[in-house]
Amino acid sequence: MSGDLSARFRALWDEIAPVGRDPDSGGYLRYALTEPERELRAWFRAQAERRDMPVTEDGNGNLFAHWGDPEASDAVLTGSHFDSVPHGGAYDGPLGIVSAFLAVDELRAAGVTPGRPLVLGAFVEEEGARFGVPCLGSRLLTGALSAERAAGLRDAAGVSFAEALGDRPAGARPELLGRFGAFVELHVEQGRALVDTDAPVAVASAIWPHGRWRFDVVGEGNHAGTTRMADRRDPMLTYAFTVLAANKEARLRGAHATVGRVAVEPNATNAIPSKVTGWLDARAADPQTLTGLIDAVRGKLAERARRDGTEVTVTEESATPLVAFDGGLAERLATLLDAPVLPTGAGHDAGVLAAHLPTAMLFVRNPTGISHSPAEAATDDDCAAGVRALAGVLEELTCA
Ligand code: GLV
Ligand code: MN
Ligand code: MN
Repeated sequence: MSGDLSARFRALWDEIAPVGRDPDSGGYLRYALTEPERELRAWFRAQAERRDMPVTEDGNGNLFAHWGDPEASDAVLTGSHFDSVPHGGAYDGPLGIVSAFLAVDELRAAGVTPGRPLVLGAFVEEEGARFGVPCLGSRLLTGALSAERAAGLRDAAGVSFAEALGDRPAGARPELLGRFGAFVELHVEQGRALVDTDAPVAVASAIWPHGRWRFDVVGEGNHAGTTRMADRRDPMLTYAFTVLAANKEARLRGAHATVGRVAVEPNATNAIPSKVTGWLDARAADPQTLTGLIDAVRGKLAERARRDGTEVTVTEESATPLVAFDGGLAERLATLLDAPVLPTGAGHDAGVLAAHLPTAMLFVRNPTGISHSPAEAATDDDCAAGVRALAGVLEELTCA
């Protein structure tokens, strides 16, 4: 069955390619539990049904398709997420789900009968683009985030996660989590590590610790034409300084800091803003560096706010510790696939699940090295290589 795998990848990929695609940017608007993402969830169910795989839900918005008894333990879980960042790429998330279905096809065509149940998962709100907290579904399932806190998270229109879900989330499901004996997430590579190599697939070693900090800067809204410069309490200045300081402090430490989102009130050309809210995404190779970076930015922000006569509050919206994937498993998969082993600065549901079960990730080469952008890419042949690698890994884990 393997010969035309690139073509079969393309055929299945084309089924979802138009869903949520913005015709102007070419990027995707697939926010969790909105119409496009619901369409993809329906597609997941249809694909599972086509393969005689019963689908279960965990009450948190996560979906599971089962090859084997859904109640059986020691299952091998694979999958990823459907949701995107605003105008995100096609591959971030869906590649792991499409590849999982194709890997099942490969295994069945080869006559493989898994000795352990195989489960395909689609996790909800991995990006945190709608409700602010990334990996919301996996955090709920594992209990890393309480049902109460998740239920009350609101999107930009004021809709709560519970309302979007249609119910209060179930929260931690230890009995369900306990049935999984391993998790493998296949994902598009989000950097340039594989571009100049012969390797279409890599194995992950670690995820940098990272988090999101919201800073609300309150000043005094006033007239742009009549307010003397000396009399202003302008939160935009505090915000602007903070963006520059975060960039500098990150560079000094070899860390990453990004302010990619801002909200301005009242957002008028001829008014000094009354409030500016910025969201800082910060990441570093180790927790000490990340803490040092955040402390430095907080200090600069407070100092600048004093000078500007503004008031600042900083709120940690999410924090993800350093994830070191199971070293033995990564080595085993790297040997099996003859693949390089790489760390990443991107967050994943695999990072959340890694605290509970042996977890591994596979990365598929991305020729642009760009992600969270419409320019994200992967060739059909590399995606086929990813499916082959995933099928090999699943066979190794379920049959060994
Ligand atoms: C998820 O893609 C993240 O790292 O923000
Ligand atoms: Mn992403
Ligand atoms: Mn992702």
